[in-house]
Amino acid sequence: MPNAISGFSKLSKLDKIDWLISTYFTDKDSAKQLITQYWNSDEKLQKLHDEFIENTITNYYLPLGVAPNFLINDALYTIPMAIEESSVVAAASKAAKFWLDRGGFKAEVIATEKIGQVHFTFDGNFTALQSFFNKVKPKLIESASGITKNMQRRGGGILDIELKNKTEDLANYYQLHATFETLDAMGANFINSCLEQFAQTFKSEAEDTLDGNLDIVMSILSNYVPNCLVKAEVSCPIADLKSKDIEHPEIFVQKFKQAINIAEIEPYRAVTHNKGIMNGIDAVVLATGNDFRAVEAGVHAYASRNGKYASLTHCTITDGMFKFWIEIPLALGTIGGLTGLHPLVKFSLELLEKPTAKALMQVVAVAGLAQNFAAVKSLTTTGIQEGHMKMHLMNILNQFEATAIEKAEIVNHFKTNVVTHSAVVDALKKLRN
Ligand code: MEV
Repeated sequence: MPNAISGFSKLSKLDKIDWLISTYFTDKDSAKQLITQYWNSDEKLQKLHDEFIENTITNYYLPLGVAPNFLINDALYTIPMAIEESSVVAAASKAAKFWLDRGGFKAEVIATEKIGQVHFTFDGNFTALQSFFNKVKPKLIESASGITKNMQRRGGGILDIELKNKTEDLANYYQLHATFETLDAMGANFINSCLEQFAQTFKSEAEDTLDGNLDIVMSILSNYVPNCLVKAEVSCPIADLKSKDIEHPEIFVQKFKQAINIAEIEPYRAVTHNKGIMNGIDAVVLATGNDFRAVEAGVHAYASRNGKYASLTHCTITDGMFKFWIEIPLALGTIGGLTGLHPLVKFSLELLEKPTAKALMQVVAVAGLAQNFAAVKSLTTTGIQEGHMKMHLMNILNQFEATAIEKAEIVNHFKTNVVTHSAVVDALKKLRN
């Protein structure tokens, strides 16, 4: 076991790498070569990336792909996607093309409210606390005016603050539950700064006028944003679904709907179903420099809002029409954070024609819906492995360091043969012999 190290963060990047390599690696030269090989030769660009986090030693690449032909509210988009999983971009592109000929996607933002809370304890009388809060509320808002000035000028700011009594769930526990409009910013810094100011003002006002001990526990935004909601849908006459993969649309829609119904009532399936949706959502969220962990946490909480984890997408078949939609909470930003810093994030946002946060919410929801349509369509028709393994073929070939000629031969061979890991290895061995 290596010894603990103190002062690691103060070492230079090269000294950090040398310590790691001398402590953990046997083939020291190749480890160092690997780490430094991933540095960008443009020193300024590398420094930018080094400074995003602490203790950076190198860059960790993810592919940035694009899915073209997304018709959303009658405008065409090419959607950037940063993701390592093979077949996700291909599936999105396929779904985009499929719906391009059938009216495209319709999307609408239902609401854009963000939430933050000051969590505190109080051991005095609730009625007294309530009337103290009512009196002090304008002062709380006023005390944050330095923080809210610019946001307010643009049309956003604090929407409301409520006092919530949570003592039935936890002794002496209360909240200041605040709502915000943060426009094109995700708003985490703005919200957290407002909350910390509310907490400070609330505490100091309470000290002068309220009987009982009031203690601030913490002030933090919530990543659960059920009122920051977007909906995306596709619909068309059932007969119009006829295509290369859908020979009998009537049978297809029944089976497709059954698959959605299963995800609506069966949590084991719902988790995988929603994971497929998040393949599309996370990829766009990441490409556009947004916080995919926040989005994941909020979306999954929303999927359980009725007390049981369930599908985020829904489907109806009425009067000969097939309708398929998603409704999800998304707190996204197109200004602030990484959006103005990471060159590829800037590229992705420009590719999306510099969207507002609302427009980005629509694009992201559509990517999730498209991904789910592609997955459920495959699952209920050909099965998922056919497409997956075709895409996985390249990964296997790369793993065995196949040459360009070998790749071409093997890809050709598997146009008419079933791809499995062992079949690919066997074919490669045969070719090499
Ligand atoms: C794989 O990443 C995603 C799927 O499992 C989604 C689904 O089952 O719906 C294919």
